[in-house]
Amino acid sequence: MRLAERMSRLGTETAFEVLARAGELEAEGRDIIHLEIGQPDFDTPDYIKDAAYQALQDGYTGYGPSAGLPEARERYAQYLNETRGTDYEASEVVITPGAKPILFFGILALVDEGDEVIYPNPGFPIYESVTEFVGARAVAAPLREDREFRLDPEELASLVTDRTRMIILNSPHNPTGSMLTMEDLEAIAEVAIENDIWVLSDEPYSKMVYDGEFHSIAEVDGMRDRTILLEGFSKTYAMTGWRLGYAAMPSELADQIAKLQTNSNSCTASFIQIAGMAAYDGPQDESEAMMDAFEERRDVMVEAINTLPGVSCLSPAGAFYVFPNITGTGIDSRELASRCLEEAGVAVLSGTAFGEYGDGYLRLSSANNLENINEAIERIRGLLEG
Ligand SMILES: Cc1ncc(COP(=O)(O)O)c(C=O)c1O
Repeated sequence: MRLAERMSRLGTETAFEVLARAGELEAEGRDIIHLEIGQPDFDTPDYIKDAAYQALQDGYTGYGPSAGLPEARERYAQYLNETRGTDYEASEVVITPGAKPILFFGILALVDEGDEVIYPNPGFPIYESVTEFVGARAVAAPLREDREFRLDPEELASLVTDRTRMIILNSPHNPTGSMLTMEDLEAIAEVAIENDIWVLSDEPYSKMVYDGEFHSIAEVDGMRDRTILLEGFSKTYAMTGWRLGYAAMPSELADQIAKLQTNSNSCTASFIQIAGMAAYDGPQDESEAMMDAFEERRDVMVEAINTLPGVSCLSPAGAFYVFPNITGTGIDSRELASRCLEEAGVAVLSGTAFGEYGDGYLRLSSANNLENINEAIERIRGLLEG
């Protein structure tokens, strides 16, 4: 088949491939513990589902405006302002099917062929993939364990050239669970402002914070008008399959992102936008209980993983992943991830699924219950000691 040349530059998410292989093994009768996918193992709270049913009954079944329903844009802007201390207006918010399309649309709208985008590595694979897809150069900003996997602003500054158009941030971070401090954000903002660079700040894990305080770069003076701030419902409210996310940005850019939406998916499902408003308005206790469960699992996982031979693991400040260093095992990351699945029946991801600087690490998600998590770690111990 003759495909457009640009398709050769499009990457993917390894998590879905590992999920598929784990499914094949399960079909053969193998018992697999899933620690590969970034999807809460909880159901969406009932009050959010009820709001969606009600919205369908109320007739929210047709096309809506490309940028989102005015009332939902207003409510989501208010949420950002409450949680970040910003002053966004409804006209600066665009609602999309999941947070992910904003990565695609934001890069499409701002980055030209030959431009450069600096992104965290290890990092969410879509950053590099979409940057290369549009013909720009993806420049890896290494996240190192000796800085608790927080982007080093000095190193970031050294990567800036006159072609740098965008810096992508993700805090709390997938896959390492690191969280940028206000000091980090201020130093990064200085680089962005000095060099007239956009920041795409991917913040879907903003509520999954266990140590320290979450901050957004949009809070820093001078950043609001050069930032695309991305939020979503997938992680906070266990709504991955609903596909609901949004971003705040200057309204002039919001109009352009809405135009990209007119040209692709038209709009985000109206009844789902209404359910998102209900998610914010309703009781937060289920979401908070979910975050407490992730924190407990993090503690159990980190402690147990640190007893594995040749493995050491920092305690992540946020998100729901741990990112152990496995170099002491003498086994390559890809090989170890593959042997965990094939021999021990534990699906995990190689750190290299998140870029070259993920080499020497594995990513384990805590989206499974404590019993399975403990069993998975014992199976890995059997593999490493056996
Ligand atoms: C860092 C990061 N950004 C964005 C997303 C996309 O989330 P959504 O389901 O809202 O599209 C994910 C999902 O795993 C993620 O880990």
